[in-house]
Amino acid sequence: MITKDYPLFIIPQSMLPSLRMEKRIDFGSHVHDQHQSKYTGVVCSPNFVKSCLIDLNKHLGELLPTITEEMRYALNRELPSSKDWHPIPSFETSLRIIGLVSGRVNVGLPLSRRDEWLDQYLQYPIHFFSSVAALSKWPHFLRPIAQYWMPQLREIHEIEGKVQELLAPQFAERRNGLKEKPNTLVQWVWDNSEEEMKTDDYQSKLQILATVPTIYTVAFGVAQCIFDLATRPEYLPMLREEYQSVLQAANGNLTKDSFSKMVKLDSFMKESQRLNPLTMVSFERKVLEPLTLPDGTRLPAGAHLAAPSFHIARDPEYFEDPNEFDGLRFLKLHRDQISSGSLKDQSKHQYVSVDETSLHFGYGRQACPGRWYAAVEIKLLLGSLIMDYDLRLEDAKGGRPTSKVDNMFIYPDPTKMVALRKRV
Ligand code: HEM
Repeated sequence: MITKDYPLFIIPQSMLPSLRMEKRIDFGSHVHDQHQSKYTGVVCSPNFVKSCLIDLNKHLGELLPTITEEMRYALNRELPSSKDWHPIPSFETSLRIIGLVSGRVNVGLPLSRRDEWLDQYLQYPIHFFSSVAALSKWPHFLRPIAQYWMPQLREIHEIEGKVQELLAPQFAERRNGLKEKPNTLVQWVWDNSEEEMKTDDYQSKLQILATVPTIYTVAFGVAQCIFDLATRPEYLPMLREEYQSVLQAANGNLTKDSFSKMVKLDSFMKESQRLNPLTMVSFERKVLEPLTLPDGTRLPAGAHLAAPSFHIARDPEYFEDPNEFDGLRFLKLHRDQISSGSLKDQSKHQYVSVDETSLHFGYGRQACPGRWYAAVEIKLLLGSLIMDYDLRLEDAKGGRPTSKVDNMFIYPDPTKMVALRKRV
């Protein structure tokens, strides 16, 4: 496949196991090329990945009360209190709620709730992706000059400057020595950085870039689930019953174990993601050193490759009636395989599981390290939403809003609304 910047080799699914742990291919290097790092300054930093993979997952249990408290605050702030039907834009609302909740984990209070912070934080990816699109229109040899005429690039550099100003006091506090280290992404990234990387410029750049993986991806997933729930309100009673019983069993204090008991909601989310994932392809990698696939195909250094995740997820060989939405599909697969004794891996059909047929969180060595946290946030948001609200499509005749596709990304139509009505 020829993209605007490089040929992308779509590798057959059968080759995936041989590449699963391969170190000569790299996700971050692919992202650098894909997002024009020379001009946009995108960095896929190992310190940031480590902070998500190790620190975030290690502290996830302790962070649950904070996440739950912030979710309550965000829902009260962003959702209507009307007992009559009230339209909301599914994506924008999801984005602001997740922006507040993830923002609290990323930079902490009071900054995460300040409007000037949230507005910059949530606007950045829009300007970032339009910069990438604008740059791609120019031939490579003209980009070093063209960059100076691009309003989109100016915009992202301006936001970076404002974000740096807002974060500067946090970095200064760390240089002066903190009495107690907070459990925030700012802190983990700081601790995982070499001394020469502890500059305001570099640290704030990592934090503003974090809005894409830690907020936009989750908000896309939430908005897609909300469209699916509003299209199929018949799922609401069973999902409410499950959420209510898990909440009761935990005396209102949800733990990691509570989230793993939300098996119907988990299946619903995975089905929503199967049909409307984040991207058309996954397992995107750049080849760092030449390598030969088991079928003899030779991949030169510098080549880009990806797996056809969208098409695999709609292949009738792996999924019965693949274009039909069945919210309990993955729960049924789990139960059927348990009763037939054929389930080797208990977690196989979970939202967060990755394998050769479930690639929407990536695959192998560099699969998404934030997926457990994302699952918690999405379950908490959807569970709270359905307990407090009835929901339906604003335009019922139009049916389930169709996703938009742009440059391999699949995203929920930002113009589409759902209607909410407070239940009690
Ligand atoms: C529903 C939400 C999310 C989706 C669909 C998603 C999807 C992905 C995908 C497809 C990849 C590439 C993996 C590969 O190709 O093997 C990835 C990588 C990554 N994700 Fe996520 N992600 C989500 C949420 C998050 C969150 C909440 C965080 C952090 C808090 C996060 C942090 C990362 C990081 C750091 C990487 C790079 C991993 C590496 O370079 O080794 N993601 N994600």
